[in-house]
Amino acid sequence: MTGTSSVTANRIALVTGGGSGMGRASCLRLAREGRAVAVLDIDESGANETAQAIHEAGGKALAVAADVTQRDQVARAVAEVHAELGAIGILVNSAGMEHFSPFDTIDRDDWQRMLDVNLTGNFNVTQAVTPDMVSGGWGRIVNFTSISAQTGAANMVHYASAKGGIIAMTRSLAQALGPRGVTVNAIAPGLIDTPMARRAIDGGQFSLAVEQLVAHYPIPRMGTPEEAAAAVAFFASEDAGYITGQLLGVNGGTAA
Ligand SMILES: NC(=O)c1ccc[n+]([C@@H]2O[C@H](COP(=O)([O-])OP(=O)(O)OC[C@H]3O[C@@H](n4cnc5c(N)ncnc54)[C@H](O)[C@@H]3O)[C@@H](O)[C@H]2O)c1
Repeated sequence: MTGTSSVTANRIALVTGGGSGMGRASCLRLAREGRAVAVLDIDESGANETAQAIHEAGGKALAVAADVTQRDQVARAVAEVHAELGAIGILVNSAGMEHFSPFDTIDRDDWQRMLDVNLTGNFNVTQAVTPDMVSGGWGRIVNFTSISAQTGAANMVHYASAKGGIIAMTRSLAQALGPRGVTVNAIAPGLIDTPMARRAIDGGQFSLAVEQLVAHYPIPRMGTPEEAAAAVAFFASEDAGYITGQLLGVNGGTAA
């Protein structure tokens, strides 16, 4: 059984990248399950829209604008969540950005930006939030990596490298925080129908039309953000208390 303070703490979730795609779907799903949700995004209007949708459905939400690469902004955002909602028990790190480029044209700035947003951003927010979880004796961290870190991605060496770092961070943090009541798991989406995926499709980044691409998948379609959010909700639940350091593909069977 959990004590009163940890029960209170574990109702509050912080979702980065909550203003769009799988982050937004995760916010809506966690709110439906009774969590108060802090929606963090660099895109303030996206965060506001998600929070508004939660309010309209009768839930509790707070939009916080912050760039996950900026530690001062992250600290301010977490302080705002503390003041408005309380201690954070669930962290979903969904903020991320894509970039397609042949390896020989990736410049130093492209490389650094991918690492900053997709790997260091995750570190910044996680480090700011874990003290709440450790002091409450309960926590759930769910990180978004990518199928590209499992299979490789020829035109996304920098993106896939950052996402590979997320898998190693997940496994290492699971070991560091498990004894303190905090689980850390990762979701590796395949092709999920979000604004990010649509930008790639519309930008001609795949060699085949999307209908032809997904026709070869064991489940021959794109995934939905809600299907990814269902996996997030499971990792964030009480039921998942003995599951940590794991990688779950939400990919229609395209990688194991
Ligand atoms: N959609 C896919 O097919 C797919 C596949 C594999 C992995 N992913 C990963 O899943 C996660 C969610 O992706 P999505 O498809 O929902 O993307 P999305 O583009 O729809 O949403 C990402 C959100 O992150 C926010 N964001 C970007 N940079 C930020 C920053 N510096 N600080 C704060 N917020 C920032 C964006 O504003 C946006 O709201 C990402 O980490 C992505 O890399 C997506």
